[in-house]
Amino acid sequence: MSIRNVGVVGAGLMGSGIAQVSAQAGFPTVVREMSQPLLDKGLAAIFKFLQGGVEKGKVAPLDVDRVRANLRGTTALADFADCDLVIEAVPENLELKRALWAELDAVVKPGAIFASNTSSLSITQMSTFVKRPERFVGLHFFNPVPLMKLVEVVRTIRTEPDAVQQAQAWCLAIGKTAVSCGDTTGFIVNRLLVPYMIDAVRLFEQGAAGRDDIDNAMRLGCGYPMGPLFLTDYVGLDTTAAICDIMFDEFREPRFAAPPLLKRMVLAGLHGRKSGRGFYDWSTTPPR
Ligand code: CAA
Repeated sequence: MSIRNVGVVGAGLMGSGIAQVSAQAGFPTVVREMSQPLLDKGLAAIFKFLQGGVEKGKVAPLDVDRVRANLRGTTALADFADCDLVIEAVPENLELKRALWAELDAVVKPGAIFASNTSSLSITQMSTFVKRPERFVGLHFFNPVPLMKLVEVVRTIRTEPDAVQQAQAWCLAIGKTAVSCGDTTGFIVNRLLVPYMIDAVRLFEQGAAGRDDIDNAMRLGCGYPMGPLFLTDYVGLDTTAAICDIMFDEFREPRFAAPPLLKRMVLAGLHGRKSGRGFYDWSTTPPR
């Protein structure tokens, strides 16, 4: 594998997790945010997570030192010039990504692999924003990144096999299992997961069962770590609704359409864990 230096654009929930696991695995990693306060927030979240891991006996203090040594924060894209792999994890706004990729394409050395962590936008479309579409892949991580073992490695009809193989090898090197798939909306996980989550919302909306009954049913009856309504809160109702819209637009199947209750809760600002309230009240631990 020729990937050594890694760049991560965005230090939000996903970007900070990706930067952490990369640095923790020994790759010199630079993470970029738009402003110093946002960067400080992302870096603080990484070290808070690691500290929690140390307290639980899951992270060795040496790992924290390794992250400190390998991770560098920046607000300048110019610092990505020497990266072998650049992963974009900025908000799901195509125009924002278009401008960002054009800028990265001009700055980052030829041959480097470009990857987007998008969960629902088209990797094929994004690959047209750069002059090296054959080096463009999707690397879709799961929340919380340091704990979830999977990465979906997405290829387009123009991605060359070497870029896919390098990306897969890097996933392995950071301790993840890579699954490979083509560029269809939702890839594998969201294509299966999102209809399940919104079916749970429909069941609740129709009054067929209460929140706790739905969540307990799937946790205790199927061994899922979280019930579907809790998981919807965890992922974010706004994020889930946005994914539904994109999937419905792609497939035109009612099962992908956001249920009215989900849309109303988003309009009301009940976005789940991130806003403090969704199907659950997140102001308490555990959420009520
Ligand atoms: N550092 C290191 N390890 C830590 C840690 C930390 N800071 N915090 C917790 N852990 C470890 C724990 O010690 C525990 O390890 P063991 O299993 O070996 O005991 C493990 O991580 C689980 O942690 P907890 O026991 O504290 O919490 P939990 O058992 O409730 O699990 C969870 C938490 C992993 C998030 C689990 O609930 C889960 O898997 N939930 C489902 C999450 C999911 O489905 N995510 C995907 C969302 S969809 C998505 O992201 C895609 C999209 O595009 C929308």
